[in-house]
Amino acid sequence: MTSLAEQNDHELGGRLSVLTRQKRDHVKLDRLLSELMATDLADQSEVLRDIYRLVFPHAFAEEAVLWPVLRRVLPDGQELTLQVEREHQEVNELVTALESMPLEDPDRPTTLARLVEVLREDVRDEEDVLLPRLQAAVPRARLTQLGVAWEGVRRVSPTRAHPVVARRPPGNSLAALPLSVIDRLRDRLDHAIQGDPDRNSPGLNKANRILTALAYQVEGLPPMRRGEHPATHR
Ligand SMILES: [Fe+2]
Ligand SMILES: [Fe+2]
Repeated sequence: MTSLAEQNDHELGGRLSVLTRQKRDHVKLDRLLSELMATDLADQSEVLRDIYRLVFPHAFAEEAVLWPVLRRVLPDGQELTLQVEREHQEVNELVTALESMPLEDPDRPTTLARLVEVLREDVRDEEDVLLPRLQAAVPRARLTQLGVAWEGVRRVSPTRAHPVVARRPPGNSLAALPLSVIDRLRDRLDHAIQGDPDRNSPGLNKANRILTALAYQVEGLPPMRRGEHPATHR
């Protein structure tokens, strides 16, 4: 089996193949992680935001579309997908921790370094093991179908960390729509707050607080946790 890193677009199944799309995002992520490591702590928020916007919909769509297929077509699909679900879970927990950590928190550099490490491990596990195994198990046309399905789900997936939501269906499928709507509204609001000369605009900040509380309520609903493998949480 050859790693995705060593295959060209044609070998990966063409432009629309899920493998080509995955590799493209992984290359983008690698660039952003290098940029993050080269940026001073005080100026990292923008790069971090770009990383979150890339990583969360990407992983959510993997969990909703790709890993269920791997569990069906590979005899060891359960163990393989559990490993990457644990990595995704750790990313969600690390980002949640970072978001409530002031810049001067002494634990921040260690938490950030661990985030970069887990994200890189996740890419290696997918490119070197899981996705080549998928490639060997399904016909080329199926890679295109999965690419289209994965891309469709990715475009409407949540854009933020949700560590309490199941990493498996049906919980993650139920959570997808409401959390995606709330996350994308919060993203717009963040954008408006940053572009506002008076960043303390009471209206915008109140709307932000309401949406944050709503996201918290929605992700805490018991059906959103259904389907989770108990070993996902270390
Ligand atoms: Fe991926
Ligand atoms: Fe992943």
